[in-house]
Amino acid sequence: MSSQPFTEVRFLAGQVGETVRLRGWVRNARTSKTRFIELRDGSGFVQCVVGAAEADPASYELAGKLTQEAAISVTGLVQLHPKTGQPELLVKSLELIGGSTDFPITPKEHGTEFLMENRHLWLRSKRQWAILRIRHTLVKGIRDFFDEDGFTLLDAPILTPSACEGTSTLFGTEYFHEGMAFLSQSGQLYQEPGIAAFGKTYCFGPTFRAEKSKTRRHLTEFWMVEPEVAFAHLDDVMVLGERMTKFLIQRVLESRQEELKILERDLAPLETALHNSFDRMTYTEAVEKLKTLGSDIEWGEDFGNDDETILMNATDRPLWVHRFPKVFKAFYMEPDPLDSRLALGADLLAPEGYGEVIGGGERASDLQFLLDQIQHHQLNRADYEWYLDVRKYGSVPHAGFGMGLERAVAWICKLPHVRETIPYPRMMGTLRP
Ligand code: 4AD
Ligand code: MG
Repeated sequence: MSSQPFTEVRFLAGQVGETVRLRGWVRNARTSKTRFIELRDGSGFVQCVVGAAEADPASYELAGKLTQEAAISVTGLVQLHPKTGQPELLVKSLELIGGSTDFPITPKEHGTEFLMENRHLWLRSKRQWAILRIRHTLVKGIRDFFDEDGFTLLDAPILTPSACEGTSTLFGTEYFHEGMAFLSQSGQLYQEPGIAAFGKTYCFGPTFRAEKSKTRRHLTEFWMVEPEVAFAHLDDVMVLGERMTKFLIQRVLESRQEELKILERDLAPLETALHNSFDRMTYTEAVEKLKTLGSDIEWGEDFGNDDETILMNATDRPLWVHRFPKVFKAFYMEPDPLDSRLALGADLLAPEGYGEVIGGGERASDLQFLLDQIQHHQLNRADYEWYLDVRKYGSVPHAGFGMGLERAVAWICKLPHVRETIPYPRMMGTLRP
């Protein structure tokens, strides 16, 4: 047995001409006179060529018997494939580490239900690998963006006593003698006191919505990044959200070309979003436009998923919709000083039919207004006293937003459904694995 250290597939391009050792799993094995193994080690994919002339006899024989997803180690010479120019391995020897019998997910087509039941194994597929690596890059990019911009991370609790986005979509759980606690819908309310301490804060964690909706955009557990900025107004939200979105697109285009290619992602719409100003439209203008596009929406109604899709199929760049009727928006929104029917909210809708990826706006900074809102929304004032304190001690205008990570991944990867954007999706009807 060799004592040579192992390398990783991602390093092979720099190791041409060297003899290296790799370990990983058999994605695919083809047997003819020469045996071809497609190996994946988590860092990438490489073709291993096992010829009777170069490999030792036992290894050559083993290569002919390998099954899908068997774990192996291989030693061989790194060379460039004559046609593709990609590194491949000319195998000298190989060893079985762990066998695999009847791996359930074969190269043939499987139904979504089957794949979802086998999500823990589906993660090994090339497509899921590509998507989740892009997710990883977005997470890192989000943290880098806010860090470089002077934001302080202020983690928000997951167990909370009260609602942020409306009481109808809360998951409850027993909390000792306090009675019910709820899984957080948003960390926003906890960022607002934070900005009076740190100026600019963000939280980034799991959030929960007990929505009984089975759409391609809804998860019951999803990750949200929520920046909050002191002295900021509605316009600042749109500027910040646009800068962040462009930063993230650029990151992915720079560092995830291989993954985008695996997903056959058309890069043109991402380039368009990166290099142009995002469009802006008031809610009132958006309703007018929707009517001309065939929607039956009436002023005062929230957009349905269909409306967002209709609106965003008609454009090739992201769109900020702002100034919504306050009837369907959350209690904390600052009213529009020019029209008290409106709230100073802004949503970013993604092109290619994707719809809302960011929701945010300016927060009410007046104590009496918020007290009236709490009463109007039939919320329990005692649960919000701490939140109201932000308005008692040096209240300032402030604003922020939340971006759903999975919605962003779905758009950037151009996926038909959010269920593939998170390792273990939680949806109505999906709790396992
Ligand atoms: O628009 P939402 O409900 O806004 C808030 O929660 C604010 N408190 C955020 C803030 O201002 N700090 O949610 C924000 C974003 C949406 O734009 C969407 O991307 C995502 O969170 N989101 C969901 N993603 C997946 N599944 C769901 N059920 C989602 N609900 C919201
Ligand atoms: Mg929203």
